[in-house]
Amino acid sequence: MEETLERVVSDLLGSPASSKWVGVHGAGGAGKTLLAKKVCDNDQVKGCFDPVLWLTFGQSVQVEAKQDELAKKIRLEGDQISNETLGRGLVGKRCLLVLDDVWKSIHLDLLDVVQENGSKIFITTRKRDVLDSRGAIKTEMGLLGKEDSMKLFVVHAFPNQNHAQVTKAVVEQVVEKCGGLPLVLKVIGRRMAGTQDWDYVLSKLKDQRLIALDEEQQVLERLKLGYDALLPLRIQQHFLFFAAFPEDYPIGFWELFRCWKGEGLV
Ligand SMILES: Nc1ncnc2c1ncn2[C@@H]1O[C@H](COP(=O)(O)OP(=O)(O)O)[C@@H](O)[C@H]1O
Ligand SMILES: [Mg+2]
Repeated sequence: MEETLERVVSDLLGSPASSKWVGVHGAGGAGKTLLAKKVCDNDQVKGCFDPVLWLTFGQSVQVEAKQDELAKKIRLEGDQISNETLGRGLVGKRCLLVLDDVWKSIHLDLLDVVQENGSKIFITTRKRDVLDSRGAIKTEMGLLGKEDSMKLFVVHAFPNQNHAQVTKAVVEQVVEKCGGLPLVLKVIGRRMAGTQDWDYVLSKLKDQRLIALDEEQQVLERLKLGYDALLPLRIQQHFLFFAAFPEDYPIGFWELFRCWKGEGLV
């Protein structure tokens, strides 16, 4: 992560004449959003760009709504929000616009609003062709190696550092089956905390047929295991309600609680 962060920061701070499009691509759950947050938090980036603006896209994004969101962020008045008005609102500024989780290059058309004055648009995406379509300077978000995978998994699986229930060899095999994806390592790791059914989980992981699946389906299949083979049915029903909220929506506890209550789950 640190190496990728350094590279992206240097691409963003590079010559103003270089492409205004910079991006990172990689599998779902590989850590792209976390990287983008770290980029925004980086002191060099904060010192160089003002404003730093963030928009979350996602597969079913309404791009016009994102234009409105951007207009609000830069306090642009008026009803007629367009590329031109947004561009005028940012004129003379060296800004960084982060577009997180872009799925289609056509979605970028309405947000091509920064000047070629050293301002940058930083994109995270699962689809490399989104970056290629703009000639973006791109970096791949790689998977975690064996050692980093183990470190991340252990933090979540053994929060009390009690390893007594399981041998190192079994933990290593479970970690290997997580495929170097931080999201999967966290989900499976947390599921394993305090449990004793390691051999059962390992056998389930070994049963998965991932070979014929593309990268995206492999991630989903691994996460699905964290859901259906590993969670009790009652918790699964509670869990399903998260799907009723939009991506990156800050779900309020009472909002969720009311949904559960309506279904007689609490
Ligand atoms: N290198 C890492 N170390 C620890 N946790 C990580 C790392 N990369 C990602 N994560 C965590 O894994 C989860 C998925 O990461 P996220 O950035 O949302 O992935 P993506 O945006 O690529 O789908 C998040 O909970 C994130 O905090
Ligand atoms: Mg993301």
